[in-house]
Amino acid sequence: MRLLDEPGSETMIMIKELKWYMSSMISTDLFTVMRERHSVKHFDPAHSLSAQEIRELLELAGSAPSAWNLQHWKFLAIADPAAKDKLLPVAYGQQQAAEASVVIAILGDLEANRNAEAVFDPAVNAGHMPEEVKAALIGQIEQAYAASPAYARDEAIRNASLAAMQLMLAAKARGLDSCPMGGFDAERFVQAFNVPARYIPVLLVAIGKAAAPARPSARFPAEQTIVWNGF
Ligand SMILES: Cc1cc2nc3c(=O)[nH]c(=O)nc-3n(C[C@H](O)[C@H](O)[C@H](O)COP(=O)(O)O)c2cc1C
Repeated sequence: MRLLDEPGSETMIMIKELKWYMSSMISTDLFTVMRERHSVKHFDPAHSLSAQEIRELLELAGSAPSAWNLQHWKFLAIADPAAKDKLLPVAYGQQQAAEASVVIAILGDLEANRNAEAVFDPAVNAGHMPEEVKAALIGQIEQAYAASPAYARDEAIRNASLAAMQLMLAAKARGLDSCPMGGFDAERFVQAFNVPARYIPVLLVAIGKAAAPARPSARFPAEQTIVWNGF
């Protein structure tokens, strides 16, 4: 008698085909999410998200890669009506800020080098990283941060932006829509929300249920944006 899980058995072939089908479905879904994400300007003000739903989206956003895994982001979730009222003039009256279920202010960490111990210690304690490797990595990080003041700012913006993009895709995959917003007064934002000097506002991301579809937007054809092997 042939065992069900014998290589070449019908069951194994079916499992293989199913796995392939599922993996292609996952990538099709991701591509669809990427293609269908657009910046929605009108949200249903009656729609709300629970703290747990917001937390899930932010956990996914925080799975973004970052240099040395320093996780140069802080997410300031603006969900209460009073906080949204405070935000509206700071965002130059853009209604998305008031109508969205939540606005996430993506903050970049100017002192992400200070996260190094907390990032590497669990790996050292679990025996996955020798103490000397940790010391070498921290040496590299401190050297980079000491080299120029622009470095910390560039890294904060670069890495936090990756988390912002993941947040918008996660929201879309959950059936929500978003609008990235750079149109806000960063200085006023810092004052209004008591943002410590360690963080810089990078982007606001309004998230909610679309009340009207986004305006259609096109992109340059790929040939226009790709340069092969150098200018
Ligand atoms: C960094 C950045 C800042 C943006 N700022 C605003 C903004 O302040 N208000 C707004 O309505 N849309 C803003 N947008 C959305 C863009 O206008 C939009 O992404 C672009 O037109 C492409 O459209 P799509 O996102 O719908 O595909 C911003 C997008 C980015 C990436």
